Amino acid sequence: MPIGVFDSGLGGLTILDALTRALPAQDFVYLGDNANAPYGARPAAEIHELTRAGVARLFAEDCGLVILACNTASAVALHDLQMDWLDPATHRVLGVFVPVIEHLTRRNWGDNTPPTHTGLRDVALFATAATVASGAFPRELRFRARDVTVESLACLGLVEAIEAGDLDRAGEVARGHVAALLARVPAPQSAVLGCTHYPLVEAAFRAALPPETTLVSQPALIAASLADYLGRHPRFRGGSGAVRYLTTGDPRAVGSRARVFTGHPPPFETA
Ligand code: DGL
Repeated sequence: MPIGVFDSGLGGLTILDALTRALPAQDFVYLGDNANAPYGARPAAEIHELTRAGVARLFAEDCGLVILACNTASAVALHDLQMDWLDPATHRVLGVFVPVIEHLTRRNWGDNTPPTHTGLRDVALFATAATVASGAFPRELRFRARDVTVESLACLGLVEAIEAGDLDRAGEVARGHVAALLARVPAPQSAVLGCTHYPLVEAAFRAALPPETTLVSQPALIAASLADYLGRHPRFRGGSGAVRYLTTGDPRAVGSRARVFTGHPPPFETA
């Protein structure tokens, strides 16, 4: 059975890359909702509807498990989808927030005991406007870690520059956002790249942040978390390492823009 990987556009390819390295014998179906990207400036109700449609499309491709490789969809839509729509007996959807929260707090997601002293002090979150507005990340951190403060910054224009393949400009945009955050918190203990597009300009973030700030990047964390999940839920495993690429946009144009993520144009098909 293939595992679905969903993003608003091309950012999820950074997650897919880590997943295929960690699980080379697993089949995957990637779906980029390029016709509707970016999600980050959309109202929550639209993100909810688009995410549900994308996940349903991947269920129709026989995916029993879908990874929401999009922080915006994970922060805004996942909880409601799990409560109101998904039947966990047949399908599961996992977001990209949980492994980051578990990593930072060193606590399992299912641990609902009161917040403890985890050693976490101040965290910088770089994300889309919708992810920041959802408040999901600071809420989940504070639920587990006492005394943590989160400074969130909506990185306007960054996804657009990356989707356009202009990494020089994207690096400049990232440096500008880091400077704005450091004006508020000069030396955060940890910084989270809370958007799956941002690993493409990770070097720009790293260079602009103080050396003592630990940079948390999602792809490796998500891959380790999925490998662990599949160990506990082997029914979602399957295949021989085949990867399909679907898009709601124009497959040729999307494939050629994806080159900046993958080094080659993936063979996108119409979703
Ligand atoms: N890559 C997505 C994320 O992780 C969304 C970017 C967008 O569509 O605005 O937030």
